[in-house]
Amino acid sequence: MNSSLKSAAASARSSIIPRTGLEARLVARPEGLPTLDDFEITEVAVPDPAPGQVLVRNLFMSLDPGMLMLMAGESGLPMPGYEVGEVMYGDAVGEVIASADPALGAGDLVVHRLGWREYAVAQAGVFRRVGKDAYPTASMHLGFGLVAYVGLMDAAKLRPGDTVFVSSAAGATGSMAGQIARLKGAARVIGSAGSRDKVAHLTEKLGFDAAFDYHDGPVLDRLREAAPDGIDVYFDNVGGEQLRAAIEVMNVHGRIAVCGALNRQSKARPDEGPGDLLSVLGKRLTIRGFTMWDHLERAAEFGAQFRGWLREGSIIYDETVIDGLANAPQALLDLVCGAYTGKPVVRLGS
Ligand SMILES: NC(=O)c1ccc[n+]([C@@H]2O[C@H](COP(=O)([O-])OP(=O)(O)OC[C@H]3O[C@@H](n4cnc5c(N)ncnc54)[C@H](OP(=O)(O)O)[C@@H]3O)[C@@H](O)[C@H]2O)c1
Repeated sequence: MNSSLKSAAASARSSIIPRTGLEARLVARPEGLPTLDDFEITEVAVPDPAPGQVLVRNLFMSLDPGMLMLMAGESGLPMPGYEVGEVMYGDAVGEVIASADPALGAGDLVVHRLGWREYAVAQAGVFRRVGKDAYPTASMHLGFGLVAYVGLMDAAKLRPGDTVFVSSAAGATGSMAGQIARLKGAARVIGSAGSRDKVAHLTEKLGFDAAFDYHDGPVLDRLREAAPDGIDVYFDNVGGEQLRAAIEVMNVHGRIAVCGALNRQSKARPDEGPGDLLSVLGKRLTIRGFTMWDHLERAAEFGAQFRGWLREGSIIYDETVIDGLANAPQALLDLVCGAYTGKPVVRLGS
């Protein structure tokens, strides 16, 4: 290439692709809950995409309590833990800014798992194109509505007329689970959350029939008051005392969908477990763990319904936006301390 062509290529690159971007690495395996010292934010060069690759400018990344378990390198999860010294990963939505593969073009909106960085470069197949106008904001592609939907419909086999209890009900998954249960015909929806404000948010804004703060005395007592006729479905984000209470209050043939383990995640130590299982036997209960990843074939069906509910105003999508990758580590630590309602997402770049 002669020198004028080289400088033309360089200036073409600089107009589209920034020289550097931020990314976050795990630099130490936490013992117990992580601290900010376990993360490192570094500025790295942004490469041109090689043939077959795509360069994406990330717009938003998801924060999920499960990331704490990936940091700890816990085994038994359906996905690999983070490696010390490596950039962490997580769900993100971004815009293609340069493509060396015909499958995607500049300007496409894509979702992928290369979060915790401002720019992601990888083979085109790593990225999935999504509709730019599918939702009012790009961040909504990171929502946990599908998690709630498959947990209710596939794991818990929700039926019209069921009484449904949802724990961590003001959170990303719980806020969707309670509202979707109602839209799918639940007769009564009960939620638990960690503060008076969140309890009010559930009943006054999200349409829960009853709610309680799980810090207010024995959960078993609060649940019996909220569900005098028992519960048929428990959407479990938490484990621990709330799972034990739900088992006691379940009706015969009740179904429990185990979505998460916040009690363990927030303390970074093993949970006490469900205790005596005689009630499970006596009431012929079903306890079923599930992951959204096993039900991705439901995504299109769920997306169509979700967009319909949004259009007609029958569901509220709640999110908290945190600005900047540099603030993401603190936001992840704050998440399991109850700092947010709805889905927390980090806005990346400018
Ligand atoms: N199965 C799947 O496919 C799947 C997919 C996504 C997420 N998950 C899991 O589902 C669970 C919920 O995820 P999310 O993103 O929706 O989280 P979230 O509920 O939005 O957020 C975390 C919340 O945890 C609550 N919390 C902390 N310690 C608690 C405890 N001991 N008991 C009850 N609540 C506690 C806090 O709220 P309070 O103020 O209410 O305490 C905080 O707001 C997590 O375990 C996550 O890893 C599973």
